[in-house]
Amino acid sequence: MNGDKIYIFDTTLRDGEQSPGFSMNMEEKPVISDGDFEAVRLIAEKVKRVQVAGLARAGAKDIEAAARALEKAVNPRIHTFISSSDIHIEYQLKKTRDEVLRTAVDAVKLASTFTKNVEFSAMDATRSDRKYLADMVQAVIEAGAKTVNIPDTVGYTIPDEYYSLIRYLFDNVKNINEAIIAVHCHNDLGLAVANSISAIQAGARQVECTVNGIGERAGNTAMEELVMAIKTRSDILNVYTDINTKLIIPSSKLLSNITGVAVQPNKAIVGDNAFAHESGIHQDGVLKHAQTYEIMKPEDVGISKSKLVLGKHSGRHAVLDRLKELGYELKQDELDSFFTRFKCIADRKKEIFEEDLIAIIGEVLHKMDHKWRYSVSNVQISTGLFSPPMALVNLKDHENNSEEVFEVANGNGGVDAGVNAVKKITGTRAYIKAFNLVAITGGSDALCEVSVTAEEEYNGTILKVFGNGMSIDISVAGIFSFVDAINKLEYMKKAGVRKISMTGEGV
Ligand code: KIV
Ligand code: ZN
Repeated sequence: MNGDKIYIFDTTLRDGEQSPGFSMNMEEKPVISDGDFEAVRLIAEKVKRVQVAGLARAGAKDIEAAARALEKAVNPRIHTFISSSDIHIEYQLKKTRDEVLRTAVDAVKLASTFTKNVEFSAMDATRSDRKYLADMVQAVIEAGAKTVNIPDTVGYTIPDEYYSLIRYLFDNVKNINEAIIAVHCHNDLGLAVANSISAIQAGARQVECTVNGIGERAGNTAMEELVMAIKTRSDILNVYTDINTKLIIPSSKLLSNITGVAVQPNKAIVGDNAFAHESGIHQDGVLKHAQTYEIMKPEDVGISKSKLVLGKHSGRHAVLDRLKELGYELKQDELDSFFTRFKCIADRKKEIFEEDLIAIIGEVLHKMDHKWRYSVSNVQISTGLFSPPMALVNLKDHENNSEEVFEVANGNGGVDAGVNAVKKITGTRAYIKAFNLVAITGGSDALCEVSVTAEEEYNGTILKVFGNGMSIDISVAGIFSFVDAINKLEYMKKAGVRKISMTGEGV
């Protein structure tokens, strides 16, 4: 590993929990009974490979309680804090700067009697007087603090300013090299990760952060974003962390499961879309060479591969690739027809799944190579407010000398009655899964297009097809589309379903 190590202080279970809706119960922390004391005590007892910190306000009662809770820890840390900004000192603590400085020093001295591993935080440091802050940092290091944290408690600072504050402390606190300088950023302006990185560049070597960036108000520095920024841009930052990045996604998911709060889809690193490509140009690039549009490997954060979302923006390359994965190879003319139909369906459907692709294949092959088995030769529908809907349908069966067969059926409306009549004639077990109606022209004589998604169970597989029909009568268009779907299902069954050969060599 090149450069210095950045210590990751995971405050998910403390600051992370300080956000509405993110409470974790004691078992999840994990602890057995109520209260933060019990939480820290049990974590200290069970978790042995990390330092365990207990947070304590700068006062004897809190510090002693933290020490007791940490008794079983292998490397216990007491983390004590008090505010350093005038606004907090005057309005919240109602003390003088001198009193606060003395309280900070006393707190660190007391904590040091229990453990050498003491961290001090100057709360609201980014809105504090720099000279006073520097005096406080120097005094707590003299008192025994081994880590000194400079928090941006209200998420107010910006990267340049934070960089200069940390540099100021390095330049003006004479014993600063006896402690690790830590940072703790809140995300009120969406700058927590950027500010933390600036602080690293200025010399900070511990970053406090939370899984998924949860925390008070807009949250804290997101651990996954910080760690992956350090890993991905080590060329510039020249530092590293000990985090096993492959556990990033599993940890993020675990936290979402525990808290019941999902991560936004476009969240960096752990969002559902973080490794999903939708644009045709991007998909094409990723398939040719992942790094064209990916700066991180999905495996590095714990997912097996990036996701190419098939939708209206997908290019041929991605679609073809998915067809190959499914075992289909298309000739050029087949691919052209397939792609035209794919685009048409993708315009109406947000995401195209594998079963949709298979349905389109069935449809395209059928249209290219085969005559339909059934054609509609007549439809008569009667319906009304008080008479039950009824349909008479005549079909020609072209596999049976084009013999004409008719049936009459009732139903819940004209389409349903017509569909029932078709079912009687063909004996099909297909059913309509989705029904879509579009009026192509305006007015009461509008031309309507009906698209149905029909399914049928066949040899343990659910076959799925799209059927289309057009007419100025809605019910007739519905019946046409169902017959169209049945024709495609008939074809798929004959062709052997998934083993359809796209090269024309049989099944
Ligand atoms: O935001 C903050 O300043 C804190 C301290 C207790 C470290 O959470
Ligand atoms: Zn905080």
